[in-house]
This record gives sequence, structure tokens and C-alpha cells, in this order.
Amino acid sequence: MKRFAEQVVLITGAGSGIGREAALAFAREGGKIAVSDINDDSGAQTVAMVQEIGGESIFIHCDVADPEQIAALVSQTVAYFGGLHIAINNAGVAGNLGKVADVPQAEFHQLVNINLGGVFFGMQHQLRHMQPQGGGCIVNVASVAGLKALPNSSVYTATKHAVVGLTKAAAMEYARKNIRINAICPVFTRTGMVDQMFALAPDYEQKLVKNIPLGRYGEPADIAQAILWLCDPGNSFVTGLALPIDGGMMAS
Ligand SMILES: NC(=O)c1ccc[n+]([C@@H]2O[C@H](COP(=O)([O-])OP(=O)(O)OC[C@H]3O[C@@H](n4cnc5c(N)ncnc54)[C@H](O)[C@@H]3O)[C@@H](O)[C@H]2O)c1
Repeated sequence: MKRFAEQVVLITGAGSGIGREAALAFAREGGKIAVSDINDDSGAQTVAMVQEIGGESIFIHCDVADPEQIAALVSQTVAYFGGLHIAINNAGVAGNLGKVADVPQAEFHQLVNINLGGVFFGMQHQLRHMQPQGGGCIVNVASVAGLKALPNSSVYTATKHAVVGLTKAAAMEYARKNIRINAICPVFTRTGMVDQMFALAPDYEQKLVKNIPLGRYGEPADIAQAILWLCDPGNSFVTGLALPIDGGMMAS
């Protein structure tokens, strides 16, 4: 029996990078996947990839900056699959590189609404369903920038610290409801987000890898495996954790 057989898994930002890789990894293990993204084309592509490997999946459009769209996402997932067991609040944006004094107001609000609001309202609607259902599991995708400063990305750093705090508080609130809530904190991982940053600041690529003891950047599969580990039904004693997936960076 596959370890996520009959489990309904909702993933935001699953049109690319870490979210897409997690969708495929859960599907290989028998999960039924609600793929969600603001980008309809890439979301539909992930669904096709899941179906290609024999998985069951639907695409639901959602801009996580809009709490009403999140409410609709959760209710459509439950209506289609008949439940919601696992939610991965993954959608996020990095913003531009720049110091505090130079961050445009609109960019501040955009990052807060997507990176923090998306996770808060995501959990709010997921928990409203999971609690009467009798349990569930949530993983919020933070960052090592949720554990230490990422200079020139102050708002990103602040929102990811907030995701870590929010995860811990929610984990305490729902521990007795059989709902485990954890965060993962990846270091730079080879996805569109990071490739875009390296394209804009080419010297960063050589420089930043020196801070990673294992000597390489993360791959989406490294992060997906950690997400699956946190959700593994046999892993029932871990909650409130902010887990670095960082090639050893936080230990150094
Ligand atoms: N790549 C890294 O180095 C890294 C490191 C630490 C944390 N993270 C986090 O991992 C998560 C996934 O990022 P990724 O690296 O896979 O990047 P990515 O750009 O490949 O994927 C992000 C996905 O989110 C979607 N998205 C963007 N805004 C959205 C919105 N408002 N509503 C719904 N979907 C939206 C995008 O369309 C895209 O498909 C993010 O939360 C990011 O902060 C990434």
C-alpha cells in the first residue's frame, strides 16, 4: 500500500518549482492532488504531469493574496475529492533585491499578502475543514530567511519569520485536534525564483554557495522529500517544527 493512498493533498503554487515537485512526489505515493496556482497554464501542466505518472489530480485557480479565493479553493477541493487531509501552503514570491529604505510600498504589501496572508488564510480555511473531519496535516513553506536574515530581502525575511511564528502558534492551538502543523525552511533551491535572482545578480551564484556546507544549492526534489517526511502517516509525533533543509547552513 502506498503511504499516501486515498489522502487528498492540496498544494498552493504547484505550477512550478517546489510545489510541482511535491505534487509529483505525493502522487507517486498514491496521493490525490489538488494543484493550485495563480498561473493557469503552468498549473494545468503540473496536473498533466501528475496524470502521466498515473496520479489523480485537478487544477483550481487561486491567487493566495485573496482570502475569498482561498476559501473557494478549499471548498472546491473538498467538494471534488470528498475531503482534505494534507495542505501544503507553498505559494510565495521573493520581491526585488534592495535595502529597507528603497522598498516600494506596493511591494511590501504584495509580499505580506502573498507570503504571510496566503499562509494565514490558507491555514484558516484548511483548519475549518480539518477540525470537524478529525485531523490533518499542514506544511507551510517558509525559508532559511525565516530563521536568519537575508540582507537586501528584508520584507521576504520578515514574512518568512512570520510564517515560522504562525506555524508554531497554530501547531499549539491544534495539537489536541489531531492536526500537525510544521514549516520547512529551504536554503536557495534551483527553481524559477532563484534562477531569476541569479540572472539579475550573477555574482550571487558563486558567492552564496560558499555559505552552504554541502557545497551545492538545493534541488526541488530535496525539498519535496522533506515535505513528504513531515506528512508521513508514521511520523505522528512531530509538530510545531521549523525544519531547515539547507545543506547544513544553519549549523555553521
Ligand atoms: N527556491 C528557493 O530558493 C526557495 C528557498 C526558500 C523558500 N522558498 C519558498 O518556496 C516556495 C515555492 O517557491 P519556488 O522556489 O518553488 O518558486 P517558483 O517561482 O518556482 O514557484 C512559485 C509558484 O507560486 C506561484 N504563485 C506566485 N504568486 C502566487 C499567488 N499570489 N497565488 C498563487 N500562486 C502564486 C507561481 O505562479 C509559481 O508557480 C515559496 O514560498 C518560496 O518563498 C524557495
